[in-house]
Amino acid sequence: MSVHSEIKKITTETLRKMKFDKEKITMLTAYDFTTAKMVDAGGVDSILIGDSAANVMAGHETTLPITLDQMIYHTQCVVRGVERALVVADLPFGTYQSNPEKALDSAVRMMKEGGAHAIKIEGGKEIEESIRKIVNAGIPVCGHLGLTPQSIYQFGTYKVRAKEDAEAEKLISDCKLLEELGCFAIVLEKIPAALAKKASESISIPTIGIGAGPDCDGQVLVYHDMVGMNQGFSPKFLRRYLDLYSEITGAVSQYVKDVKNADFPNDKESY
Ligand code: KIV
Repeated sequence: MSVHSEIKKITTETLRKMKFDKEKITMLTAYDFTTAKMVDAGGVDSILIGDSAANVMAGHETTLPITLDQMIYHTQCVVRGVERALVVADLPFGTYQSNPEKALDSAVRMMKEGGAHAIKIEGGKEIEESIRKIVNAGIPVCGHLGLTPQSIYQFGTYKVRAKEDAEAEKLISDCKLLEELGCFAIVLEKIPAALAKKASESISIPTIGIGAGPDCDGQVLVYHDMVGMNQGFSPKFLRRYLDLYSEITGAVSQYVKDVKNADFPNDKESY
């Protein structure tokens, strides 16, 4: 049982303590008020407004098209539904890579207009100065290493990353760098479990894994995937807790039948 379940508001400091106390951290995505309210009520420690909103909310093939204004809108909706969880928002592609000043401006907008408690950005050494600038402004930063979907056109595939020694070594050194720069946590996506274990043991800030095995300090999943809304997506790492796609299409087809048969609304449902 969680020693931190009584906490009224989760902070970056709570996550650090969870790692220290060996209590696993839970994170799920949400992009709207109603979902955020349910996810928060379910007791998740952190809610991520992932740029996966580009995929699951907008139907894009990659995360690249979503804009900062759109991410700010999703974040505002989520923040209104959350009482306890730490709200982390992704900075989308193109809003932090070009220079540190732009990165800081984007992060400030996300905090000021979106109301996020922290931001997440993808990359290591390449974006060192941007991370430094954002952290120095007092904004909590979560890193993201391994499979970083904003670089998908450079990778070419969504396969497991860092299987080769050189990429694995870079990942470990990026983890250490992100810790030195003051990041409060690092998402590790789709890397070998043994490497994620090594990475988690080599830093004192928490790692939050997705497709990175059981030894990360926490786990994150995309909400639509874990509740089974996203039928076509079934990677090995995904555990589905519901089959909402079938539940919802079943309910919709029942509603269609009821209306067509003049069974809905009945007398009790009418004024
Ligand atoms: O955008 C997202 O949902 C993410 C998670 C997969 C970690 O970055």
